[in-house]
Amino acid sequence: MKIKFPKEFMWGGAVSAEQTEGLNPIKKAKTVYDVQFEATPNDFFDNNGPQNTCDFMNKYKEDVALWKKLGINSHRTSFSWARIFPEGDYKKPNIEAVNWYHSFIDEMINNGITPFFTLYHFDMPEYAMKKGGWMSREVWSDFLEYSKFVLNEFSSKVRYWTTMNEPWVPMEVSYFGNIQHPKLNSDQAGADAGYGIVMSHALVVNYFNEFVKDKYPKNEIGGIFNSTVVYPKDQNNPDDVKAAHYFELFQFTGMTDAMVSGKWHPDMGPWLREMEIFPRNFDSKDIDTLAKVKLDFIGLNFYQPLRAQKPTKLSDRKPFNYFEAYKMPSRRENKFRGWEIYPEALFDTIKLMSERYGKDKKFMLTEYGMGVQRESRFRDSSGKINDQYRVVFMKEHLVQLARVIDELGLEVMGAHCWATFDCWSWCNAFKNTYGLIEVDLKTQIRTPKSSAYFLSDVIKNNGFDYENEKTEDYIDFN
Ligand code: BGC
Repeated sequence: MKIKFPKEFMWGGAVSAEQTEGLNPIKKAKTVYDVQFEATPNDFFDNNGPQNTCDFMNKYKEDVALWKKLGINSHRTSFSWARIFPEGDYKKPNIEAVNWYHSFIDEMINNGITPFFTLYHFDMPEYAMKKGGWMSREVWSDFLEYSKFVLNEFSSKVRYWTTMNEPWVPMEVSYFGNIQHPKLNSDQAGADAGYGIVMSHALVVNYFNEFVKDKYPKNEIGGIFNSTVVYPKDQNNPDDVKAAHYFELFQFTGMTDAMVSGKWHPDMGPWLREMEIFPRNFDSKDIDTLAKVKLDFIGLNFYQPLRAQKPTKLSDRKPFNYFEAYKMPSRRENKFRGWEIYPEALFDTIKLMSERYGKDKKFMLTEYGMGVQRESRFRDSSGKINDQYRVVFMKEHLVQLARVIDELGLEVMGAHCWATFDCWSWCNAFKNTYGLIEVDLKTQIRTPKSSAYFLSDVIKNNGFDYENEKTEDYIDFN
């Protein structure tokens, strides 16, 4: 079967600032990850903190040259808030950092690679977290100040912008949960931070539409969500269906509806009130600010679907009395990450989004990818990692993306896989590697994997052949 994509498709990969920049003489304030690593290094796989990664600030020219050679035509990363404003004084940008970002962006543009930038990819400066992070209205204004500076500085070169990467995630891991600093582990903190994230996004989007578009009418702003459809364990069981509705409200529609359409899901406020965790930082004036939100595109990071069942036990965490995550016993799973493999959910999620947010919305697959542990065991005699499992994983997902274009008639701008090259991944550090390009942490040598050459051919041919192969045909997860 021939799978075809439009000619003007954006093809490439994504990474983020904190995950690639590493230890560097260009000044940076401590981020939440630097602080967590100092306090509890054991939280990070192999005690590998954010300092030890792919040395991108020194290697960028070599990297961009390699991407060009592979035919990659676009790349996403983020700006580091903590590096651009190391003192937390929004009148004092770090000129050295600004100049570095300029050189990197110029390097991409001069090599025919379209830059795609995110303003915030999880790496909040600790000075902002100390003020209460996303729970604090002062931090919302700080984020706007930082964003205004970056947008004004770089909009003549960067056309595609996104506010935040997976805005639900920091809410979940740092405020509602206790995986990442400051591990607040509180239902109320989760609601307050979720609300703050939505409003901070709104402030930046509105600024962009009012002031940036005026000067640069072709520039576009989007959001990047890891929202996914939630399938009920048994769709004929009304209790499971209800649980799926609440799980979807928790992980998807609760925040994403507001961030895309400027309107809260009608069940969200009543649900938070019922749980007695209505955001304490709410102000009725925010409703008008939010209503102005208008995005040019929706970015989707897709890894796995979610499934829900009626709760089987009482929980001291309020939302978990409405739904419980369900692991389908027969599921396909990437055991290294514990994530289900179900590419059809990519199609179902975009379909649901277009039903909720309008058929005129365009999409970008901003991340999809596969993390694998100890990939060097797949090295072939030529010295490259022969990651045929990743090639097929990519094919399985791109088949679904092509269906979005062909069957739903939606506009898709492109597909960025996670990741362009191996990089540090939060608490998992380098446990699983995702890159199209291998990075040897000790020597910093870059070597394209088979998946890089596969993508190269896809770009040349605007498509590929697919014959029902499955990822598991090439890797044993057990
Ligand atoms: C995030 C990345 C992360 C990747 C792998 C994505 O959800 O955007 O920052 O490294 O997942 O876990």
